Amino acid sequence: MTRWVDAWRRANEDPEGFWGEAADGIHWERPFTRVLDRDATPSACWFVGGALNTCYNAVDRHVDAGHGDRVALVYDSAMRGVVERLSYADLRDETARFAGALTALGVGPGDRVLLYMPMVPQAVVAMLACARIGAVHSVVFGGFAARELATRIDDAQPKLVLWASCGLEPGRVVDYKPLLDEALALANHAPVNCVLLQREEAPATPVPGRDVDWMEVSRAAEPADCVPCEATDPLYILYTSGTTGKPKGVVRDHGGHAVALHWSLRNVYGMQPGDVFWAASDIGWVVGHSYIVYAPLLLGCTTILYEGKPVGTPDAGAFWRVVAEHGVHALFAAPTAFRAIKREDPGAERVRDHDLHALRTLFLAGERADPDTIAWAERALDVPVIDHWWQTETGWPIAANCMGIEPLPVKHGSPTVPVPGYKLAVLDDAGTLLPAGETGNIVLELPLPPGCLPTLWNDEAGFRSAYLDAYPGYYQTADAGYVDEDGYVFIMSRTDDIINVAGHRLSTGAMEEILAGHPDVAECAVIGVKDALKGQVPVGFAVLNAGVERDDATLCAELVARVRSELGPVAAFKQACVVARLPKTRSGKVLRGIMRRIADGEEYRFPATIEDPEVLPEIAGALGALGYPGDGS
Ligand code: COA
Ligand code: AMP
Repeated sequence: MTRWVDAWRRANEDPEGFWGEAADGIHWERPFTRVLDRDATPSACWFVGGALNTCYNAVDRHVDAGHGDRVALVYDSAMRGVVERLSYADLRDETARFAGALTALGVGPGDRVLLYMPMVPQAVVAMLACARIGAVHSVVFGGFAARELATRIDDAQPKLVLWASCGLEPGRVVDYKPLLDEALALANHAPVNCVLLQREEAPATPVPGRDVDWMEVSRAAEPADCVPCEATDPLYILYTSGTTGKPKGVVRDHGGHAVALHWSLRNVYGMQPGDVFWAASDIGWVVGHSYIVYAPLLLGCTTILYEGKPVGTPDAGAFWRVVAEHGVHALFAAPTAFRAIKREDPGAERVRDHDLHALRTLFLAGERADPDTIAWAERALDVPVIDHWWQTETGWPIAANCMGIEPLPVKHGSPTVPVPGYKLAVLDDAGTLLPAGETGNIVLELPLPPGCLPTLWNDEAGFRSAYLDAYPGYYQTADAGYVDEDGYVFIMSRTDDIINVAGHRLSTGAMEEILAGHPDVAECAVIGVKDALKGQVPVGFAVLNAGVERDDATLCAELVARVRSELGPVAAFKQACVVARLPKTRSGKVLRGIMRRIADGEEYRFPATIEDPEVLPEIAGALGALGYPGDGS
């Protein structure tokens, strides 16, 4: 067996050789002339001169290789009590037909197509259909509100919007039409058409001249062939929270993405063609793009598309039912999902109701995996539980215990070691390398491996300033942590205003912009505080304009409603308080870090630069009233 350290060294010392070999796992329409162009701007490019089709690699080639009968996708809806299976041949036919429909609607290579869709097979078909004809998809998570959707429509300027009439959440049907109507009213850009998928739970009334029916356009369409795409052409844009209200459009290319994901499923996740892989996420997130859709299909595995929750659909045994029923070999979930299951079934009784013999590994990512949850999952499932760390920007794991290379001993609290291709360093704020054990800014040496973002959509300057400018020669992850004496990585916190709520990445800056828009609010702060279930939840503080006399509870309810309607329910913004002042430095910087420490009951010291220490007991009092520990000074 290859040792991890050998693979990692080789990828560092000879990236051209390492990734050139990995590229053999992909079918190329035209071979690349250079594996890596280090001088490309704004960042290095992979597989220059090569042409391929990502959909061909994910779907058609498995049919051509005689695996047309293999199940490509299992749609399991705990919400509807429905299971559907699509073979690779079915998926090819449906994708080719929908690609034909997109072409008939005027979509061509490079055009953007935006999807606002729940976890239904048609969404996967649509993503692949875009890839088939060289169009660029951009999926927007269903839990975002109209304003967020509008921002993305304006940035991506899609020719078409593909939408479904509703999403299904426990206890409620989410009608998408009012959200889409409002988003299109807010947006400056108008798509040529919208394609509406009617769901029987809540059909929508189409808008004449705007909406065309999904089934009708598919039925009428001629199947479309795969077109060759340049390796460096964009495959998709995925918006993720940045440090302001404006989301960042992470771009993914065709060639590097296909090679990296295909390699990662085998080497990081230990999968083989024909295995069953289940990423219990949503297609609106990067985990969904990479490990529900592309990686399992690129390797010829069966992927599970699960419409449901870990608990309440109907109970805390939901995951075990899916694993048993579909013979899942590897499960990938957010630690929050396991905390939710553990809370309802602490003794893991429900695990015993199901035959989980196929399950080999559980992978956790998306937020810090707390050692208690890992230990519980290890006991409950009796399989290796692998914490691994990555970001929307990288698209695949930066640090992991590579199950397909050499499983290393697990250290709870660490996502283990850098994956081959990633050269990780820890720097202080001045950019000096820190020794083992010291916490600092985690950065990745350039060039990044294939599959990572080459730039931000229409925002090269933003790409440079967010990722490249702070530490020349490195990509800034905006995560802080350390590497221990054994080379194990520990991710401790973000260095920006991003918080992680139930594995969902959110910007407190975006929430502050919304609170600041309230006519009675003079200034505000939003911090992420510890939460036993969701890891973190946001809490807002508002200082009112002079002379405003309002009932605090009513005002806070308005702030909560505002974030829900402008950012979306996924923000889980449920707590706000009114305070007389915010703690600040003498230069006017709000001391959010100290506020968070007070909320979490951690010790804190008054910084020498604090403007007025007397404000801190007031903050502690407000947090105490919300049920947080209060003063740890
Ligand atoms: N469309 C519309 N609304 C959505 C939505 C979607 N796709 N996804 C979530 N929401 C809503 C929820 O209904 C909830 O609304 P509410 O405030 O009316 O209850 C809100 O957004 C918050 O959702 P969530 O954070 O998912 O919390 P929850 O209380 O509904 O469920 C868990 C708790 C733990 C079960 C859930 O957070 C979970 O499954 N987490 C795993 C997360 C995950 O897989 N992340 C992917 C990263 S790998
Ligand atoms: P996202 O872009 O939504 O995937 O979120 C990426 C961020 O989630 C990272 O920058 C980290 O802050 C956090 N994250 C993801 N995985 C882990 C992990 N295994 N441990 C700690 N933090 C993680």
